[in-house]
Amino acid sequence: MAGAVERLGYIGVGASDLPAWEEFATNVLGVAIHERGEDGTLFLRHDKNHYRIAVHPDPADDLMYIGWQVANDAALDAVRARLGEHGVAFSEGGADLARTRRVADLITLSDPSGVTTEISHSPLMDYANPFHSPRPVRGFVTDDQGLGHMVISVDDYEASQVFYREVLGMRVSDYIERPVGERTMRILFLHCNPRHHSIGFGSGAGRGKRLGHIMLQVTNLDDVGSTYDICFERGIADTTIGKHPNDKMISFYLHSPSGWLFEYGYGARTVDDEVDQVERFTVISEWGHLRPEGGRYGDRRQAAS
Ligand SMILES: [Fe+2]
Repeated sequence: MAGAVERLGYIGVGASDLPAWEEFATNVLGVAIHERGEDGTLFLRHDKNHYRIAVHPDPADDLMYIGWQVANDAALDAVRARLGEHGVAFSEGGADLARTRRVADLITLSDPSGVTTEISHSPLMDYANPFHSPRPVRGFVTDDQGLGHMVISVDDYEASQVFYREVLGMRVSDYIERPVGERTMRILFLHCNPRHHSIGFGSGAGRGKRLGHIMLQVTNLDDVGSTYDICFERGIADTTIGKHPNDKMISFYLHSPSGWLFEYGYGARTVDDEVDQVERFTVISEWGHLRPEGGRYGDRRQAAS
């Protein structure tokens, strides 16, 4: 699809406690601190890209920007044309921001919730210093599937659906609908490559924060188990290990130092636009994802939404 985003390239978050993040990233997630910015920003890395998650000093402890990636300069021109056709305003990122983000060129715009959305091409790869997990975790699933996935809370579900589907060109994988009292809670899962979803969103999905969770997918089930053990011992596991009905991921959720969650998973299925049909689910988990205080992952936010 001309002008559609192709991968989740990078994410920027703000954090009030950077030393806690450095310790957490290294000893829990098993991702590397690849570089430090002059302001203390931590550039976290879990594959050959220079970085995937930038943790900036910021008291909000929440999402700052989402970086979508396209293949090359021609593809970014196609994005500009597509945005123009939809009458969506955007700005050129400029050379300074491109240097900061370690990309060749980028544009910036806002999603309907006001989330800074950046679209770029040609991210910096670092083969001079190959990625080695500091824990060590064997490896993460990235490449043509992007860095992982994220779930965010949006202010206007319908406007967000128009933006991510029609403007950014992402496709629906499936959605989960659950009746909550008089209302129906919906989370929509969208893909832009074989990863089942690169973004999911719903109203009230973030428990008071824009960012609900970031998912990192490892290449070996044992690394989910060993990471769960660390989180259990530290008291930062939000759920037990469980399995989702839509992407078939075996995963668990854990607390980041900023309050929002990571999902740490293995074994997700991929999707194919030629084959897959959109499905609808009424539960978030096939089994597991149990919470220590009772209930399953998602129960609390449904009660609050
Ligand atoms: Fe997830």
